[in-house]
Amino acid sequence: MQVLPTPLTARRNGPLNGRARVPGDKSISIRALILGALAVGATRIGGMLEGEDALNTANALQALGARVRRTGEQEWLIHGVGIGGFAEPAIALDFGNSGTGCRLALGAVAGCPITATFDGDASLRSRPMRRVLDPLERIGARTLASADGRLPLTLAGARDPVPVVFEPPVPSAQLKSATLLAGLAAPGETVVIETEPTRDHTERMLAHFGADVRVEPDGADGKGRRIALTGQPELTPRPVVVPADPSSAAFPLVAALLVPGSDIILEGVMMNPLRTGLIATLGEMGASIERLDQRDEGGEAVADLRVRAGTLRGIEVPAARAPAMIDEYPVLAVAAAFAEGTTVMRGLKELRVKESDRLAATLALLRANAVAADIEGDDLIVHGRGRASGGGMVRTHMDHRIAMAALVLGLASERPVQIDDGSFIATSFPGFVELMRSLGADLS
Ligand code: S3P
Repeated sequence: MQVLPTPLTARRNGPLNGRARVPGDKSISIRALILGALAVGATRIGGMLEGEDALNTANALQALGARVRRTGEQEWLIHGVGIGGFAEPAIALDFGNSGTGCRLALGAVAGCPITATFDGDASLRSRPMRRVLDPLERIGARTLASADGRLPLTLAGARDPVPVVFEPPVPSAQLKSATLLAGLAAPGETVVIETEPTRDHTERMLAHFGADVRVEPDGADGKGRRIALTGQPELTPRPVVVPADPSSAAFPLVAALLVPGSDIILEGVMMNPLRTGLIATLGEMGASIERLDQRDEGGEAVADLRVRAGTLRGIEVPAARAPAMIDEYPVLAVAAAFAEGTTVMRGLKELRVKESDRLAATLALLRANAVAADIEGDDLIVHGRGRASGGGMVRTHMDHRIAMAALVLGLASERPVQIDDGSFIATSFPGFVELMRSLGADLS
């Protein structure tokens, strides 16, 4: 995506009111595209995220021989080529800002006897890929060229993939998913052992498409997971209904908690327990978040969330919760600034390798707006005062979640908050500004 930087300003206005539905889940949209490309025949996706990350993934899959077509609003149809059926792309695959699209596609390509070059924008080029190349090389893929385990890199997929047992060195759904997707092409059983469970959308969707996936508790305390996939299944196209993304819902949700008098409903938000860490944490801080009409949609639990403004108190957020809310820390830090007392968020090392060094960017966001905060080791500490003066200019570092978190701060602070560039918001949350305005927010 090559667009001019779009500065934005958020100002305090009246309360937020009304109903809204945030776009489809990014993780599920990307997985649906990739599994659709690996199935034989046509997969329909409804409610798809039409954000840059999903669109770049769709383009890459087209270059690999799948046919991807938009058939209506958020309705997509993908004709897959089958496991091992990708064609060698004539061009480098450009994933833009999307770490998930890139890493999962690396896994899918690793099991095919083709060579492909993977690339992305400056943010994605700075992110570590060695961690995902390690299991893929054990399966039989070869990294032909890469600067220091970063993009651009060229991967030669395995001619004779072998199944592996892999224990990711960090809790990462992307590493788990890439390994399982490569394992689809290997005969026998590919096993991923997680000491800390991460989002399980890949396992669920593989089963939905007919693969044999068994998930069992693992480790002495039973808190880990052992995921075993039987290789070389025939993936059968199945419709996918994408629920609203809880990581996107987080922004209007926190805004409604902080702007006095607000009362909003966010419709159809996915409530997969491996994604609801933020809601649990805000609940402990005293937030009023009601789950209405809890139901199942497309194999995932969803609910309408009624969110009302109120006072929050500082708490300690344990490191063990990080995988269930890894993308939500910037906006949680904003909520913590408006809480009474200190919030300590532990174990945030992985935030350093997100779309930006999100730990440093979150600290800078807070400090630019006169919020007292520190990093100690891998912990973020925010001293909340029940209010924030704002008035800052926040550098977003090509990071959509830093951009949206800063704007949420500006909606509730005494003085407006500016960001240098809102264009990256479109990676995960197209229509963010319009949706927030429809609830009454002043964004310009
Ligand atoms: C994602 C996993 C997380 C998350 C990212 C989406 C996924 O990354 O930060 O936005 O869809 O698997 P890690 O798996 O690297 O923690």
